[in-house]
Amino acid sequence: MEVNLKEYPITRYQGSKRKIIRWMSQVLTGLDLKYETVLDGFGGTGTVSYLFKKLGKTVTYNDLLKFNHIIGKGLIENDYDLLSENDLVNLTNYISERKIVERNFQGIFYLDDENQWIDNLTEGITELFGDQQHKQALAYYALFQACLIKRPFNLFHRKNLSLRTNDVVRNFGNKTSWEKPFDSLFKQFSDEANSLVFSNNKMCNSLNSHILDLDEYGYDLVYLDPPYFNLKSGHETSNYHKCYHFLEGLSKYSEWEGLINQDTLIKRLDDHNDINQLTKANISEKMEELLYKFRNSIVVVSYKEGGVPSIEEIVAMFEKLGKKVFSESIHYKYALNHQNGDAANNREVLIIGV
Ligand SMILES: C[S@@+](CC[C@H](N)C(=O)[O-])C[C@H]1O[C@@H](n2cnc3c(N)ncnc32)[C@H](O)[C@@H]1O
Repeated sequence: MEVNLKEYPITRYQGSKRKIIRWMSQVLTGLDLKYETVLDGFGGTGTVSYLFKKLGKTVTYNDLLKFNHIIGKGLIENDYDLLSENDLVNLTNYISERKIVERNFQGIFYLDDENQWIDNLTEGITELFGDQQHKQALAYYALFQACLIKRPFNLFHRKNLSLRTNDVVRNFGNKTSWEKPFDSLFKQFSDEANSLVFSNNKMCNSLNSHILDLDEYGYDLVYLDPPYFNLKSGHETSNYHKCYHFLEGLSKYSEWEGLINQDTLIKRLDDHNDINQLTKANISEKMEELLYKFRNSIVVVSYKEGGVPSIEEIVAMFEKLGKKVFSESIHYKYALNHQNGDAANNREVLIIGV
């Protein structure tokens, strides 16, 4: 099936594979693999799950972060529910009592009136759609996209509202998007969310689990796109908890305040004890565990050159399990890495163990 990229929403997320899904689809089709059930174990934006859903597969989306899991609910699990005009009116008129963003995030990521807007809308989403999880997920999707597009670099790892407010000449970012009002962005992304909903007549679902805690049976094909750790440098953007803690907080709105580490400048969620985090120190061992766990499935690993473990090590792990290994690669230029000057390393690789 020919992939029409216009049917896949623009993503604003570290490591999103939207830019290579057409190629991925060609590679998988070319190998003539026989599979019906798919696990997308590190789902992120859901763009790869969406590809498999379009291909007519029974898709299980999974991500450790709750805000991503919610996106998976809205776009992958949801077959029919849509946001109506009336829903949008009710949401945008809701007034928050908790005011968590207003009280905790002044001057950090957004302007004061924007913080109030985020509180109102988020509390509205949780209160008005408590028993309609797919509608709630679509509204959250629109909220997350609106929050991301208004952030320099689409990230929350720095207290850098001043990049938006300082009157200086910029050679990066998109001042026009940053300054668009939340109301109109929310409407724009609600329409986008609605346009993405479809049924492929299969039972797709969205999970929110540490990948190693998932059931190993039931998936003909497992797609693994773990956080990328560069052998030579320590990119803090591989720390998804840190980069997107604000969206994670919104997804846990009623309990958020008690989870904030008030000693951090960016008011991070306290996740010091999160034993499920993948790090440069444990990723090789965890990768081997993962490949062993899903040894009865076809496993497709997305990777880049220069990472830990190396591509050769991953191939060796597959071979140790008696798998036949195929590997394909394509060159890709990333906007952010390009600025960092290591664009030459940006070769996206698919390692497939059958
Ligand atoms: C490279 S991104 C995946 C990008 C995704 N394929 C896409 O196209 O948007 C890695 C994802 O793994 C998730 N993650 C990190 N540790 C995890 C774990 N232990 N179990 C499940 N997901 C995890 C992160 O939240 C992040 O969304």
